[in-house]
Amino acid sequence: MLVTGGAGFIGSHVVERALAGGWEVAALDNLSSGKRENLPLGVSLYEIDVRNPGAVSAAFQEFQPVVVSHQAAQASVSVSVREPVLDAEINIIGGINVLRASLEVGTQRIVFASTGGAIYGEVPVGAADETAAARPYSPYATSKLSFEYYLETFRQQFGLDYVSLRYANVYGPRQNPHGEAGVVAIFADRLLAGQPININAMKEVGDDGCVRDYVYAGDVAEANLAAAEGRTPRLLNIGTGKATTTRELAEQLASALGVQAELQAAPPRVGDLQRSVLDVQQAEGVLGQPLTLKEGLRRTAEWARSRR
Ligand SMILES: NC(=O)c1ccc[n+]([C@@H]2O[C@H](COP(=O)([O-])OP(=O)(O)OC[C@H]3O[C@@H](n4cnc5c(N)ncnc54)[C@H](O)[C@@H]3O)[C@@H](O)[C@H]2O)c1
Repeated sequence: MLVTGGAGFIGSHVVERALAGGWEVAALDNLSSGKRENLPLGVSLYEIDVRNPGAVSAAFQEFQPVVVSHQAAQASVSVSVREPVLDAEINIIGGINVLRASLEVGTQRIVFASTGGAIYGEVPVGAADETAAARPYSPYATSKLSFEYYLETFRQQFGLDYVSLRYANVYGPRQNPHGEAGVVAIFADRLLAGQPININAMKEVGDDGCVRDYVYAGDVAEANLAAAEGRTPRLLNIGTGKATTTRELAEQLASALGVQAELQAAPPRVGDLQRSVLDVQQAEGVLGQPLTLKEGLRRTAEWARSRR
């Protein structure tokens, strides 16, 4: 299995899980946000940009992947708003380079890191299942949705099989606390440094903040493995189906870290969805129950502590 973005947060969990599942694994990553030390020893890294078709093709010729888990991306919503061309170049054109290289070497299946958190837009009540209408509000959501369509087009035209996994908000060990997203990593870093954390409001300053579905990275890696092995439908939400406010998250994380949290009320962040929760009944049928937030935060807190 070739894991693009394999040196990143989620990609490195996919690499780890695939190795444990007996796959021969390599990573392809330009290390723009990923780190070599995220990769287990012995996993080869093709240090390549997906926007470079010649280099991507050469890596595929050498490694001959049977399955590609495509995690490499411009993964920030706010960057996509500021730099929509960059976002499309990496997430659409870069992705097409991966598909063309896959066809050249007879790759059987692509597993794609898509986004339920962004594609469904606002989910005011309940949870969005896979049949819910797509309402992409950011260039990031649009580039991810576009690539899902490219996957379907390549399947129809060239017979390349694929699975789109629409992730909720993913958290866990190795998430970068210095990015613009990744609230669990950012909060953990600040809490351990004794700094206050902001609860950006959902509507009014002082409310409990936005509502999200937080899924543990290990469960996302498990889903990637199941998809790689042909055990999932072609489109699948990956989350927990549970709604958590930012305030609840902050309190549970502080308790997992064993620290007192100083919470500051802050205004809503421009462009943030108010509420996003995924219906995961289909995923549960294949993968079983996801990890509870409590246990996921306990594991993440343990890692964050050991890292300091
Ligand atoms: N973290 C989440 O909550 C979340 C939610 C939904 C979907 N996703 C998707 O999951 C995937 C992994 O995200 P992540 O949170 O691990 O972020 P990440 O930034 O840790 O991982 C992305 C990886 O891709 C690499 N990369 C970026 N641009 C590249 C390029 N041009 N060429 C080659 N490699 C490149 C980076 O160096 C990094 O290692 C992304 O596709 C992201 O859109 C993440």
